Amino acid sequence: MNQEAKEWNPKILAFLCNWCSYAGADLAGISRLQYPPNVRVIRVPCSGRVDPYYILKALQNGIDGVLVSGCHPGDCHYISGNYVARRRFAALNSLLDFIGVEKNRVQFTWISAAEAERFSKVMTEITEEIKALGPAKRFVKDNKQAQPQDVEKK
Ligand code: FES
Repeated sequence: MNQEAKEWNPKILAFLCNWCSYAGADLAGISRLQYPPNVRVIRVPCSGRVDPYYILKALQNGIDGVLVSGCHPGDCHYISGNYVARRRFAALNSLLDFIGVEKNRVQFTWISAAEAERFSKVMTEITEEIKALGPAKRFVKDNKQAQPQDVEKK
């Protein structure tokens, strides 16, 4: 592995449900637990609110890894949002596999409001897994094609 590859830090997006996983992240912060700084958190009302389109769009725009995390089964604030999310995730996984996106690039998990240590551990693990995969290449939009100045030059 060359020096550049060692220093590469992935861009990871974490969709966290407000009632459990985001509260777990908050507790991790309050408890001063360490986790890699390259995880960007988006708070959503429920994991069932995460449209697969958001994940595809993130990958298309150069995000290297995506995590969706919700309440544990039976704990969803909206009764069944996390079950909906799990079913969507299974369907999305098939699509990602079909288009050649690596298996661990998009992950789904449950983290409760009390699981600060688990939050920190999951963030560390996903960061290591994405680092091992390297930068996302499949399904990434070629941004140069979308630049208006490039169109004007032609
Ligand atoms: S409120 Fe947390 S997954 Fe639904």
